[in-house]
Order: sequence, then structure tokens, then C-alpha cells
Amino acid sequence: MSQPGPSTRVVRAGLPEPEQGEPFLPGPVFAAPFHLTGEPEDSPAVYTRYGNPTWTRYEDAVGSLEDADAVLFSSGMGAAAAILLTQLTPGSVLAVDEGCYLNVRRLARTHLEPRGVEVRLAPPAGLAAAARGADLLWLESPSNPTLEVYDIAALADLGVGTVVDNTTAGPLLQRPLDLGAHYSLTSATKQLSGHADLVLGYVTTRDGERAQALRDWRRDAGAIPGPFEAWLAHRSLPTLAVRLERACDNALVIARQLAARDDVEEVRYPGLPGDAGHEVARRQMSGYGMVVSFDLGSRERAERFLAAAKLITDATSFGSVHTVAERRARWGGDAVPDGFIRLSSGCEDAADLLADVERALDAAA
Ligand SMILES: Cc1ncc(COP(=O)(O)O)c(C=O)c1O
Repeated sequence: MSQPGPSTRVVRAGLPEPEQGEPFLPGPVFAAPFHLTGEPEDSPAVYTRYGNPTWTRYEDAVGSLEDADAVLFSSGMGAAAAILLTQLTPGSVLAVDEGCYLNVRRLARTHLEPRGVEVRLAPPAGLAAAARGADLLWLESPSNPTLEVYDIAALADLGVGTVVDNTTAGPLLQRPLDLGAHYSLTSATKQLSGHADLVLGYVTTRDGERAQALRDWRRDAGAIPGPFEAWLAHRSLPTLAVRLERACDNALVIARQLAARDDVEEVRYPGLPGDAGHEVARRQMSGYGMVVSFDLGSRERAERFLAAAKLITDATSFGSVHTVAERRARWGGDAVPDGFIRLSSGCEDAADLLADVERALDAAA
């Protein structure tokens, strides 16, 4: 059989071989210690902070989507911290895209810099120069929330250990490891679980030593996922491809609708042919994601838009079946104007969403 397509892969990912009378996806294993006689090395499970069969199943599943080892953490930030803290020591240099997720930048500035790590924050055009002589290069593509698109292969080619935060694209739309990155990071809180009901994250890598260092870090730092969250995420995985297809279609029509209005500025969506990131995105992604951003010019207009929308929930995060949007400047920490909105399209009917956006824009005028 030829290589199965993405929908087939997610439906089967991580499932055990069929066994008479057993469920397709075994339930979560809730345990602190496991029965253990003799040496820990001889037992498949010893104590859940060291490993849990429910995590392993989900790791096998998401790892298979990138043909890599996956290491699961309690959140996307837990995964980010694990990469940074296993790779950087006093005197190390970290080059970071200044538009990447704000908590990653904050972690670097407030926790790594005081411990002697040089943190070089760089704008998109300066990232390659900042990476020169660095020990680790951190980028996010498309970035959240401004949707900058980076040429991953070109940056990974600089010869510096490269991390791609792949959260906005996810493993079905973009495979950073194929493009030369050493780590791909995904907050599974978003599209991977897709129902806005849990927090989880993982790292994939094809380097066994790096994977082992992450697992050791998780054991020692205790940034461990709950078995129930891992199981829920696994249960949601088979629908990833169909959810994504609908959400990406919805994002494109909403982006087009926004771009056609003269009272909306700076519409960013990598799937729009005129978008600054479109050409690179077309080369390195197989779809453009569900996140769209735009500027309504003022805080007041953005707030009126969000208050008037009925199907678009005012909430943070992205990638769930529900369409959500937020005025991003309310968090501080991102270089975005007061009227900047990040919208994540869900799986509702496009016609309903378009009508809602139109009405809310008119109400915000
Ligand atoms: C791009 C990106 N990376 C990492 C994270 C962190 O993920 P989590 O909230 O699961 O810790 C987020 C969260 O919004 C994100 O948007």
C-alpha cells in the first residue's frame, strides 16, 4: 500500500493492534506507582512521573505524524521550557524571533537572561544575522499573533540548532523537521486537541539524544501531562484532518471578506495570494491554518466588533472547533496596535460566520 494520506494517518495514529474484546483506544491509565519487583529498568512502567502508557500511546501517535520521536508535556510552555533548559547553559546564546509567542519571549528574558544566557531578540529580517554564532535559534511560523512566515529551510540551513514552534500550523500542515529543523514544538492545547478543553504540549525531534534529554528533563522537572488530558487529546486526534479542512476553508473566506472591506486594515492570512508570507507558505505548508489577523484601527472599534459578534466568542487561544477572536493588545507584550484582532476560525458553517462577521463589522463602524 502507498503511504496513507493525512486523514487515514490521524484516524489510526497510535492505536494498538486489534485484540479480541479490547477497545480501539484503551482508556487512560491512572497510576502513581506501578507494581515493581526488582530493578526499575526491567519494568515497562514504574512511576508516572517517569512515564505513563497513556502518554506513550499519544506520543507514538503524534510522533508518527512527523516521523519522529515525540515527548509530551503538561503544556506547550512546558515543552518550550524543556527545549530551552536542556539546550542552554550560562554563556549560551539564544536567537529568538521577536514576534514569537509572548510567553516564550518572557521565559527567555526573565528566567534565562538572569542566569547568563544571552538572548538576542530579532525582527524577521534580522533573524538570520542574530543567529550567527548562536547556540539555538527559535522561530515560529506562521507566528502568533502577527502571522509572519519564515523560510524554515533557509534558517535551518544556517547550521544553528533550530527550533520551530509549529503550533499555528500543526503537523498536518507543516513538517519543520523535513525542512531541517532540529525540534518542532506544538501546543496540543490548540488544533491537535481542538475542543478548547485541555492544555498540553509536545516536542518532536529525530535526534535520539535530544529526545532522551527532554524525557530526562520532564522526569526531573516534573512538567508531566495528566493521563486523562493525554487520552482526551488522543481521542480528538482522528478528527484533526476534517476539523482542519473546515477551519482552513472558513479562515480563507473570512480573510477574503475582511480584505474586501475598506474599514478593515492589515488583514494577514498566509493563504491570501497578496499576503507577504504567501509565497514561502505555499512552498513549505500544505494548508494555511485557521488564524487570521486584522486591525480595526482603534480599541473602541475592536471592542464593538467583539461585542456585536454572536458566533465569534471573545476568548484567547485558537484551533478549536469554535470560532474565537480577541483584541490581542489587551495582554500587552505583543507589538500590535490597539485595534488588532486575532481570529481563529472554527468548524461552523461558512455562511453563518460570514454573516456574523459582516454584521459585527457594521456594528463596529
Ligand atoms: C505559538 C504558541 N506556542 C506556544 C504556546 C503555549 O502553549 P500552551 O498554552 O499549551 O502552554 C502558545 C499558546 O498560546 C502559542 O500560541
